[in-house]
Amino acid sequence: MIPAKSSNYDLPDSYDNIEQTLITADQILSDAVENAKTLFHSPTVSSIEDSKIVSRVMVLREFNLKDRFMRFHTDYRSPKIKQYKKNSTASVLGYDPILKVQIKLQGTIESHYHNSVTRNAWDGSTNRSKKCYSVRGGSSFKIDNPNKYDLKDGNIEDGYMNFAVLIFTFNSLEFLHLKSSGHRRALHTWNDNYASQWLVP
Ligand SMILES: Cc1cc2nc3c(=O)[nH]c(=O)nc-3n(C[C@H](O)[C@H](O)[C@H](O)COP(=O)(O)O)c2cc1C
Repeated sequence: MIPAKSSNYDLPDSYDNIEQTLITADQILSDAVENAKTLFHSPTVSSIEDSKIVSRVMVLREFNLKDRFMRFHTDYRSPKIKQYKKNSTASVLGYDPILKVQIKLQGTIESHYHNSVTRNAWDGSTNRSKKCYSVRGGSSFKIDNPNKYDLKDGNIEDGYMNFAVLIFTFNSLEFLHLKSSGHRRALHTWNDNYASQWLVP
């Protein structure tokens, strides 16, 4: 049986060239922005709240390897906005069982509100996405009856006042490919200089 494809391109069958692992990670994450079939479209974003680790799934809206950032959208009223201001350290993790690839990134999150970054992102959003930001109360607000908070038709542009953009800038990207004949794990880091290193999987 031919396995179901979750990507719109062909990936190498195995990795013996470390540069190829970064090229593949770039292909997977760039494709994942528009391609909801790959699980990399909705990676897990973890950060630190006081002494706790908190994780949430978010839709990947942009991936840029050259400038090393990812873009996510969220509700400005969400408590994570304050949390990222207090501690910007974050990690993004994704795995797609069809691609058999895990990608783990480490970096920091900066939130944007009512500036050119949010304006461009809002203008590039679909009406379906924009509608979520008109919800009453805002993300994480404590409620008694969820029915009262279902999304209603109204002026979707009003949601812009609740719209925030999260820019995750990364300085490390770890690629893991699982294959029975030999797993491959590669770490790419950007500190003073770029470096890459194979790791025991
Ligand atoms: C498939 C999926 C996609 C999601 N996309 C987003 C998103 O793009 N932005 C966002 O803020 N929350 C998104 N969420 C909801 C978050 O995972 C989370 O529940 C919400 O942001 C509130 O979490 P918090 O209390 O950790 O901030 C998504 C959840 C799922 C299951």
